Amino acid sequence: MARYFEEELIEQIRNANDIVSVISEHVTLKKKGKTYWGCCPFHNEKTPSFSVNEERGLFHCFGCKAGGNVFTFVQKYENLTFPEAVEKLAKRANITIPEEERDPKAIAREKHKERMYEINDLAAVFFHNCLTKTNMGKGALSYLLKRGLTMENIHHFRLGYAPDNWSKLYDAFKKRGYTDQELVEAGLIRKGKKSYYDYFRNRVMFPIADGRGRVVGFGGRVMDDSTPKYLNSSETKMFDKGHLLFAFDKAHRRIRELGQVILMEGYMDVITAHCNQITNVVASLGTALTTHQIHLLQRQAKDVVLAYDMDNAGRMAVKRAIDLLRPFDFTVRVMVLPDGKDPDEFIRKNGEEAFLTIVKKAQSAFAFLFTDALARHDVTEASGKITFLEEMFSIVAKETTSMKRHALLEELESLLRSQGIDIRGNIAIYFEEFLENKKIEFVDEPEPDVTTIRNRETAEDTVMAYALQDEKALRAVLHFLEYQDFTSTLYQSMLEKLNTALSEGQSLSIPLMEEIFSEEERQEMEALLVLDREDRHRGFYIDIMRIRIQSLNHQYEIHSKRADQYAHEANSTEKMFAELQICEQIKKQKQQCLQEMREGEYSE
Ligand code: CTP
Ligand code: MN
Repeated sequence: MARYFEEELIEQIRNANDIVSVISEHVTLKKKGKTYWGCCPFHNEKTPSFSVNEERGLFHCFGCKAGGNVFTFVQKYENLTFPEAVEKLAKRANITIPEEERDPKAIAREKHKERMYEINDLAAVFFHNCLTKTNMGKGALSYLLKRGLTMENIHHFRLGYAPDNWSKLYDAFKKRGYTDQELVEAGLIRKGKKSYYDYFRNRVMFPIADGRGRVVGFGGRVMDDSTPKYLNSSETKMFDKGHLLFAFDKAHRRIRELGQVILMEGYMDVITAHCNQITNVVASLGTALTTHQIHLLQRQAKDVVLAYDMDNAGRMAVKRAIDLLRPFDFTVRVMVLPDGKDPDEFIRKNGEEAFLTIVKKAQSAFAFLFTDALARHDVTEASGKITFLEEMFSIVAKETTSMKRHALLEELESLLRSQGIDIRGNIAIYFEEFLENKKIEFVDEPEPDVTTIRNRETAEDTVMAYALQDEKALRAVLHFLEYQDFTSTLYQSMLEKLNTALSEGQSLSIPLMEEIFSEEERQEMEALLVLDREDRHRGFYIDIMRIRIQSLNHQYEIHSKRADQYAHEANSTEKMFAELQICEQIKKQKQQCLQEMREGEYSE
């Protein structure tokens, strides 16, 4: 590993970037004991075998064996080199890396990125000025004011106007020294047959910011019925729609405060909400909600309220969002605004209070799906009732724990009752029958733990796990055991390397092991250390004894077999006696070992 950085700096960055929160930005983790579990982002899996240990700063996948520390994770996940990962995490923690220690390539890349942010920000200023300070923007301004926004609102969201002209922006930016290439990359201009032209023309402009409030792209709306209604910046590394939530920079504080996020569909919905003091509101960007966007919300809120349009497209979007949110630990509710109004219109007409009342009354996701399905079936007929129930059962069956399924069945029962739908029987039994007919078997979310994930932990595994986390334990292992006492050759070589390092005066640490171990050994180390174990302190010495005695028994067997063989061969009496002597020695060693263990200073 090339060393660009001082070890101290690496440690500082490592400590400032909690591995669980870094990984949680991309993977849904659930805590069990001291270990977090999730589905591995490096291979395809449905049941979690990807584990993270916060205390030790390690992750390890028991499926594909990917593993490492917080740097390795960022490297793998974002396809970065080690220095790049270090820079990225330093930045994340607001740690400045001394100029002379920095990777020149990373510096260049960063300068370029800064320049892109600068261009986007300047474009926001340009559009905003066109809207608020020029004659060209008059029409757009009156359009926005007519839609109920104030000048203050327009400034707050930095709304703008792209002039009805092929090169206004291009000309202005060229004058300022930006290159064609830079402007194309930022998505502001395009190359035509003869020359470059402005991408956004005669549109109201909505700047789209990342979580830190830096403009990374734009949405532009026409002011009449022409199409496309919205034109968005094309996707770039910086403007990755699936990873962004509109207004998240303005909303995340309030979302966290309330533990609740309201998801809407449109830019104008969000803007109107925010301008009416409802600020825990964001929107996904035109596309359907993505898992990445959910990850942004995961550690901020427990409650998700979907405030989508209730037209067909909106209802479909709600259903997709419910499905996508299901594996996460959110409480999902759906609000339905009266008369098919969208949030923008409703809030403008009725105000904050009225909207919040409806938020409070928002129905559960399941109740929404119930009402939605009910509208599609004629439950006054037996067959309609059956297909309706089947549809509801298939939703219940999506839950991966029996506890959640039971809760939903209860909810279903009370919803049916409230609608006066009599099913004349026990709903739980109907559900069982449904499962049987459909041949659905649940693979409930496994509760991963040491024994299930590693099949069977041997005394060797537990002893190694303890030795790798505690130097005193390691020294005890090296004192009492020979490398060959371990049947695992991997453990043998790991111990040998650790012994060398200790005798060179180094002390046991995860970075040390990451340095001296081979790839295979490192994986083994992670697998041992990432798991949550109860305190092995007492069992530890008994396990050492067990390993030693097993090893001696094994050796005893080998030599006594040999002695047996020689006994049946001619002229091998001497050899036989030699073997028997070894056997005696082994016996003695065994006695000695038992005694030493019994009285030894390590028997605490
Ligand atoms: N959208 C988009 N491209 C389109 C249409 C829609 O990106 N061609 C996205 C925009 O983010 C838009 C959202 O989908 O805000 C919802 O679309 P729609 O309901 O059609 O627009 P509204 O937000 O209601 O816009 P307005 O109120 O201005 O009509
Ligand atoms: Mn609208």
